[in-house]
Amino acid sequence: MLKPDAIENGHMGKIIDMILQDGFAIKAMKYTQLSKEQASEFYAVHKERPFYGELVEYMTSGPIVAAILEKEDAVASFRKLIGSTDPAEAAEGTIRKAYAESKGRNAVHGSDSDENAAIEGAFHFAPSEIF
Ligand code: RTP
Ligand code: MG
Repeated sequence: MLKPDAIENGHMGKIIDMILQDGFAIKAMKYTQLSKEQASEFYAVHKERPFYGELVEYMTSGPIVAAILEKEDAVASFRKLIGSTDPAEAAEGTIRKAYAESKGRNAVHGSDSDENAAIEGAFHFAPSEIF
């Protein structure tokens, strides 16, 4: 996902370009806004964390771009491209280094396993929307 701060700050096109330049193929893509119910469900693994309320508030604050991406070893490769959660710790050349505002408002989300990528893909897209 491209998170609301990335869209709000006008970085949507540049981030999608970085993703394509890195060799990912787009299998599905959608510009949409998450409801409170959807964001709460999407980040349910964090519901006991102190930042959960803030995270749900932020993720519903404006439109996002959801996508399913394909590449060899996609999960690890995408996490390398996005960089550390906190942009202060993100490596040079990563999306978060270039475009994240802060550890909370950090421009992009990447799935953390193949299993979660499948769950998150199905969360955003019907089979007929995946190419
Ligand atoms: P993501 O799931 O969004 O790809 O991010 P991540 O794996 O790098 O980080 P994760 O630990 O899964 O946290 C999910 C998102 O919660 C927000 N967060 N805020 N204020 C804080 O200390 C804090 N910690 C995490 C970020 O938006 C983070 O990406
Ligand atoms: Mg995560």
